[in-house]
Amino acid sequence: MKNILFVFTLLLLFQSCKENTPPKDKVQTSKRGLITKKAMVVSAREEASIIGSDIMKKGGNAFDAMMATEMALAVAYPYAGNLGGGGFMVYRLADGSTGGLDYREKAPKAATKNMYLDTNAEVIPNRSTVGPLAVGIPGTVAGIFKAHKRFGKLPIKEVLQPVIDLAKNGFIVTKNQEGRFKEKDSIFRAVNGHKLLFNNDLKKGDRVLNFALAETLSRIAENGVNEFYKGETAKKLVEFLNEKGSIITLEDLAAYESKWRDPIEFQYDNLKVISMSPPASGGICLNQIMKMIEPFDLKDYGHNSLKAIQVIVEAEKRAYADRGFYLGDPDFVDIPVETLTSDIYLEQRMSNFSFKAPTPVDSISHGKIEGYESDQTTHYSIVDQFGNAIAVTTTLNSGYGSKLFVDDLGFFLNNEMDDFSSKSGVPNVYGLIGAEANSIAPEKRMLSSMTPTILEKDGELLMTVGTPGGSTIITSVLQTILNVEEFGMTMQEAVEAARFHNQYLPDEIRIEPNRFDKKLIEQLESLGYIINEERSPVIGIVDGILVLENGTLEGGADPRGDDTAVGF
Ligand code: DON
Repeated sequence: MKNILFVFTLLLLFQSCKENTPPKDKVQTSKRGLITKKAMVVSAREEASIIGSDIMKKGGNAFDAMMATEMALAVAYPYAGNLGGGGFMVYRLADGSTGGLDYREKAPKAATKNMYLDTNAEVIPNRSTVGPLAVGIPGTVAGIFKAHKRFGKLPIKEVLQPVIDLAKNGFIVTKNQEGRFKEKDSIFRAVNGHKLLFNNDLKKGDRVLNFALAETLSRIAENGVNEFYKGETAKKLVEFLNEKGSIITLEDLAAYESKWRDPIEFQYDNLKVISMSPPASGGICLNQIMKMIEPFDLKDYGHNSLKAIQVIVEAEKRAYADRGFYLGDPDFVDIPVETLTSDIYLEQRMSNFSFKAPTPVDSISHGKIEGYESDQTTHYSIVDQFGNAIAVTTTLNSGYGSKLFVDDLGFFLNNEMDDFSSKSGVPNVYGLIGAEANSIAPEKRMLSSMTPTILEKDGELLMTVGTPGGSTIITSVLQTILNVEEFGMTMQEAVEAARFHNQYLPDEIRIEPNRFDKKLIEQLESLGYIINEERSPVIGIVDGILVLENGTLEGGADPRGDDTAVGF
């Protein structure tokens, strides 16, 4: 059935906004974010946070809320929310047990190591980023079903019904979305050959109804996970993909499985950090960076001070250099996790650090870097009334993924294949370089920077946090944790604070524009650091929930996006 778009009047907009606004008594406008007593969802869209929170109000837990929130983001935030992508979830149950879920996309069986190279072994521009060959086997539906099967409480139909209603009744376009739909309209038309449901006519306040997605979700609610991987939806998807020239087959879809993985866990001062393991690089890199900076007195140096930035940047450089060389899909490559995260190794890694000058990148490792672009993912954090916490980061990779939109099913397909290293040493869209460990192979998962993270303090839940931002994910999560732990910020202040980023190559410190003191920038430059204030208008869009001393929850919803905390 064809998608239909209805644009309603301003009156409807006001009505809808009213419905979606959290009750006044729950909102605090001081430095704190939203405070609630029992449960909370913080996500990129108010509709998704409301749906997730309502599911918990009905007696559902964080895993029921995960399924509802994730699918609601696919409806209301097609930029990154998805059925056609993948992600990672880290959980900590009320009893303190922890785990990780990998629902990362996989390469199709017909994928080959050099599939993005021409006859001269040069990377063919755009092939891994736009259109049919960029698409990896989607993992999201498998992931939410696996999490729900093990831990969910409410029936699937009850969990998905509000999302189906949202797709049928429509979501309201925000100012940010209006801008993105306008910006991407020409590439959508070029890739798909026609005007999409999401197009440059849409204005802030318009309502977008996605009947095709409502039908897809209804079939999934009725028939379960197999609907997406083996049923009518699978057949329609493969038919669509093959028509476009993709190498993905029905067999690829049928063979896809999400996987439980042990998270990376380590101690930083008196915090226990629980973060995602490979094929996400977030946990290992965060572990390395935090252990390298632990001996330094960041609190004394001060937030975003010269010395704090130096220490953090130098640790980041070293961790990203290791990332590019050692990390990949653990089902395909042996990753020396223990060595990479051991005290001796990390101490040695920082041994040539000096406050006098940057450590030259050549002395850390080697590589080359070229141009790259900006893109999108999304993160949500949930704490339920039973004390369970989850951190979920999910993505299509670039904004709207490969830009391929399956009209009959109502969703975009990812371009996650670009997260592989198409050629050793050649950067991907995030400027990240990779090596053999992250080369393409059939059914392999591409390396990710996603860093869904949960913190414990004194054996109790402290925080759940994460962000989109490609290569800047890891460093944004790091800074948010440090903002609370070292610099005494509230959750809301911590997500709002100005961020910087270093990823080893290119050899520069990226900073958010106009948010850092001119004098500080001059000091860094005079030490020999290259500062790039243009590259990233924003670094990360962090969402988190902090458990306060009195046991209440504080949401941190990043104003860099349309992110919203909702709870009770
Ligand atoms: O998995 C990764 O690391 C990337 N595909 C994430 C993409 C992303 O965060 C885009 N957002 N800005």
